[in-house]
Amino acid sequence: MEIAITSSPREASRFAAQFVAGVVRANPAAVLGLATGGTPLDLYRELIRMHREEGLRFSGCTAFNLDEYVGLGHGHPASYRRFMEEHFFQHLDFRPVNIRIPDGTAPEVAAHCAGYERAIAEAGGIDVQILGIGSDGHIGFNEPGSSLGSRTRIKSLTERTRADNARYFAPGEEVPRHVITMGIGTILQARSVVLLAFGERKAGAVAAMVEGPVTAMVPASALQWHPVVKVLVDEAAASALARRDYYREVFANKPDWQRWEGAPSLD
Ligand code: GLP
Repeated sequence: MEIAITSSPREASRFAAQFVAGVVRANPAAVLGLATGGTPLDLYRELIRMHREEGLRFSGCTAFNLDEYVGLGHGHPASYRRFMEEHFFQHLDFRPVNIRIPDGTAPEVAAHCAGYERAIAEAGGIDVQILGIGSDGHIGFNEPGSSLGSRTRIKSLTERTRADNARYFAPGEEVPRHVITMGIGTILQARSVVLLAFGERKAGAVAAMVEGPVTAMVPASALQWHPVVKVLVDEAAASALARRDYYREVFANKPDWQRWEGAPSLD
């Protein structure tokens, strides 16, 4: 894992955007794995800025989102489909046919999930997967206890995650119990992963992911098996990392060819 401790979420998001933009410039037909939540919003804003001001194009790209609530249709304000439209897709030049988000209203959930996996494979696999992290260490909606080899499937949310995400729902509205999420095995197959985490609330999860044992109880720890993971955190999210001074030193003294800006390497 490559750990970058940045001065602010804005700076981390700019780094992440540079990396994603580099992947898209190198391959205009790149396949992007996308996340929802508050964390990637600055990254999305920066990619939109690059599209408007620097001519970064997504018209040949395909996007697969990580997850969706079961039972929420496209029109629901808290659906991830709606979130992505509002904060990302409506500002960019993706072809609608290339935007894939699990369908929370699919009548045959298992068949829908199998079809989602097939679609990722047919698109050639995900080139870069963007991730946030839940305060309990979940990625996508793979809650603690998820199989580290899991594929896209239905999951039940923990009370903690439902409470964390209640802010996106109207007061008094129930947060759905069930979701469809790419599995940990699905995420591990992406060619590269960019994980963002900000704020003290994420510090414990970040430390467990980076420095703890690989365990299904911290789903993000499975990323220790992935050869190309870039973890971008602010100071608060880094505060529980025992080796943070070392990560700072490594990042500050990278050889030029290994720097991320503009010219990311996928290996
Ligand atoms: C949800 C999403 C995750 C996201 C997490 C953290 O559970 N399914 O993909 O990483 O929330 O959200 P936030 O970025 O708002 O803290």
